[in-house]
Amino acid sequence: MSALSERPENAAVGLPLQHESATLHVTGAALYTDDLVGRTRDVLHAWPVQAPYARARVRELRTEPAYDVPGVVRVLTAADVPGVNDAGIKHDEPLFPTEVMFHGHALCWVLAETLEAARLGAAAVQVDYEQLPSLVSVRDAIGAGSFQGTPRRLERGDVDAGFAAAAHVFEGELEFAGQEHFYLETHGSLALVDEAGQVFVQSSTQHPSETQEIVAHVLGVPSHEVTVQCLRMGGAFGGKEMQPHGFAAIAALGARLTGRPVRLRLNRTQDMTMSGKRHGFHSRWRVGFDDGGCLVALEATLTADGGWSLDLSEPVLARALCHVDNAYWIPNISVQGRIAKTNKTSQTAFRGFGGPQGMLVIEDILGRCAPLLGLDAGELRRRNFYRPGQTTPYGQPVRHAERLDACWDGVLTSGDVRRRQQEIARFNAGSPHRKRGLAMTPVKFGISFNLTAFNQAGALVHVYKDGSVLINHGGTEMGQGLHTKMLQVAATTLGIPLSRVRLAPTRTDKVPNTSATAASSGADLNGAAIKNACEQIKARLAEVEGGDRLTWEQLVNTAYHQRIQLWAAGFYKTEGLHWDAAAMRGQPFKYFAYGVAAAEVEVDGFSGAYAVRRVDIVHDVGDSLSPLVDIGQIEGGFVQGAGWLTLEDLRWDESDGPHRGRLATQAASTYKLPSLSEMPAEFNVTLLEKAHEDGVVYGSKAVGEPPLMLAFSVREALRQAAAAFGPAGTSVDLASPATPEAVYWALDAARKADPDPTVDGVARRQPEEVSS
Ligand code: MTE
Ligand code: MOS
Repeated sequence: MSALSERPENAAVGLPLQHESATLHVTGAALYTDDLVGRTRDVLHAWPVQAPYARARVRELRTEPAYDVPGVVRVLTAADVPGVNDAGIKHDEPLFPTEVMFHGHALCWVLAETLEAARLGAAAVQVDYEQLPSLVSVRDAIGAGSFQGTPRRLERGDVDAGFAAAAHVFEGELEFAGQEHFYLETHGSLALVDEAGQVFVQSSTQHPSETQEIVAHVLGVPSHEVTVQCLRMGGAFGGKEMQPHGFAAIAALGARLTGRPVRLRLNRTQDMTMSGKRHGFHSRWRVGFDDGGCLVALEATLTADGGWSLDLSEPVLARALCHVDNAYWIPNISVQGRIAKTNKTSQTAFRGFGGPQGMLVIEDILGRCAPLLGLDAGELRRRNFYRPGQTTPYGQPVRHAERLDACWDGVLTSGDVRRRQQEIARFNAGSPHRKRGLAMTPVKFGISFNLTAFNQAGALVHVYKDGSVLINHGGTEMGQGLHTKMLQVAATTLGIPLSRVRLAPTRTDKVPNTSATAASSGADLNGAAIKNACEQIKARLAEVEGGDRLTWEQLVNTAYHQRIQLWAAGFYKTEGLHWDAAAMRGQPFKYFAYGVAAAEVEVDGFSGAYAVRRVDIVHDVGDSLSPLVDIGQIEGGFVQGAGWLTLEDLRWDESDGPHRGRLATQAASTYKLPSLSEMPAEFNVTLLEKAHEDGVVYGSKAVGEPPLMLAFSVREALRQAAAAFGPAGTSVDLASPATPEAVYWALDAARKADPDPTVDGVARRQPEEVSS
C-alpha cells in the first residue's frame, strides 16, 4: 500500500460528517459573493446592454443617452480596456464585441448607483445593428461547414476488417440536447481597488487563478496586482470553470476606472441567456456485432455544438472521445470528433465534461440494437464489459475492470432485479395502457485532467502557537463537500481532533497557480497537497526534544520555543500520467471510477407521462473520505443526470422570425428542472465495499461527476417501457431529452410497429441494419 493511501487507525477521514457549512446553508447565514454587497460601502452596480439578434455587426454604439439617466456613473466600452479586450485564453471571445455572435451577447456595461439606474441606463444606450445571417442549430452548422478548433480522431484496430467480419451491422443517428447549469447562485463578482490600484475580486469561480489571469490581461497589469477570492459557490457544476472570468474583468475594470467597488451579478434570465451550457451533440454511427452480441467495430462522427467561441469545447470533445467506449471493449474503433460553431452561448464544462455525451452515444446504440440482436439490453451490456487486462481505445489499461462486475452483481442483488423483472413482465402483460421498464447501465469514468499539466495542487497549512490549525488549499467549494473532506484530511494527517482545524476561503494570494476545481479531482489533488504540508510539519515536530510525552498543544508550544517552523506549503502532482492530444493516445487518467444503476419507470400510454419508481445504485468511491458527502454527490449527480436526459429541454428559436437565435427557455417557468416530485419513489445508494484505491489520498476515489452518468438507466428504462407498448423485439428510437412528449412519440411508434418484421429471427427496424 502506498504512503499516500494508507489510512491510520481512528482517522477523521471516513467519518460520516455533514457538510462543514450545512448549518450555515440551511439557516441562510452562509455568505456568497453577492452577500458581501450589503457589507461594502459605495458599491456601483453593473447592467449589460444585450443584443437582440443572433448575429449582427455593430455599426454604432451611442452611450451618451445613458448618462442622462440619474444615477448612471459610467458606461464601460472597448475603448476603456487598457489591456487585452478578451474574456478567455483562446483570444476568440472579445469582452466588448463589435460583432454580435449570439442573441443576448453583451455589448457594453452600465455602472450606476443602483441596480435600477444601471438597468435604465442600459435601456437608454442606442445601438445600430446590421443584421447578418446566423447558424443556430448544429445541423445548420454542419450543413454550412461551420466548425472551430481542432478536430480529433480516436482510432484503434481496423474498422473495415471489423465490419467485414461482423455478423450484424447497424447504423443510425442521434442528436441530443445540452443542459443549463441552473446553479442556485448565478454568476457574480465584486471588485475593489486599494490605495495602490491593486484589485481584489471576490468571484463565484471554480478557477480563481484563471479568473486572476484574465482580469490581469484585461487590465494590462501583472498577476501580482490582482487577487481573486472565492468564498464558496451556490453550485457551479462546471458552469463557473471558465465563464466567470469576463464578468470578473468587467467588475475589475469598473473598479479601476471609478475607484469604487463594482458589483456585477447576473439575474437568472441574464445568466441563462449569456452564459454557456452543456454541449449538445450530433452523432452518426455504424456498429458491428458478432454472433454472440459482442461489439466488433464502431465508426462514428461526434459533432459538439460549441456555440460562438471555443471556451472549453476542445477538452470537452477530447473527454467525449475518451468515453465513447464507456464500460465496453470495442476492438476496432474509429471516432471522429469536431466542434460546430453556432450563434448560441459559448458552451462549456458541465459535470462529466463531455464524458456523458460520449457515453450517451454508445448507451443509445446498445439500447437500440439489443432488440434487433434478440438480446436483453442488460445482457448485451454485460457481455461487452471490459475484462481485466484489456485497454481503452486510447491505450490505457482498464485497471480494476472487475469492479464493473462487482457493481453490477451488487445491484442485481440489492435491487432484487431478477424478481422485479418477472413482476414487471407480469404487470405489462396485464396492463395495456401503462407499462413498466427496468434497465441497468454501467459507468466507467476516467479521473484526472486529460491535460497532464493541470494535475497539480498546492496547500498552505498554519499551526498557531495554541495548537489550532488553519488550512488553505487551491480548491473551491461549490457544495460538493471538498472543504469538509480537506478538514478531515488535515485532522487525520496531523492526528488531532477535527475541532482544532479551520479552513479559510480560497484565494490566489494564499495558494498560487492553481487548477480549476474540476474533473472531480479536487479532493485527490488538494487532499494530497494538504497531506504533504501536514507531513512536513509533523516531521519537524518529531524533532522536538521530549516531544513524545507532550499533548498536541504542549508539543506545538514547545516547538515554537525551540524555533521550529510551524507552517508549511504543500504540493502534489499526480505521477504516471501522459497524454498525446494530437494522437489521442496515452494514459491520461490516474484510475477509473465505476458504478452501476438500475432504474424502474412506469409510463402512461395516453400521455407519455412517467414516474421513476425505484433506483438502486452501487458506486465505487474507493475508501470514502466522507461517506455522507459521497452519498449526497451520488444522489445529486444521478438526479442532475436524469434531469438532462428526461426533463430539461433547452429550446432555441430556430425560425427565421424576428427572434431567431433567442433562447426560448430562459426561466424556471419554461425550463423544467427535476425537483422533489421527480425523485425516485425509492432510492437506494450503496458504496462499493473493499474498494481501497492505492496511490490516492487515504485510499479514496473522486466522486463529483461519475454518478451523473448513472442516469442513463432512467433513459434506458423509459426506452424499454415504450418498447413494451409494441410487439416483442421492437427497437425504440428515443429523443434526448426523453420528455413525456418524446416518450409518447416513441411508444406511439412502438404501438404502430409491424408485429413480425423479423428476418432470420432478427427484427429489422430502426436503426436500420445495413449489409456490410
Ligand atoms: N456538487 C455540488 N453540490 N455543486 C456543484 O457545483 N459540481 C460538480 C461536482 N459536484 C458540483 C457538485 C462538478 S462539475 C465537479 S467537476 C466536481 O463536483 C468538482 O468538485 P470535486 O473535484 O471536489 O469533486
Ligand atoms: Mo466539472 S464539469 O469538471 O467542473
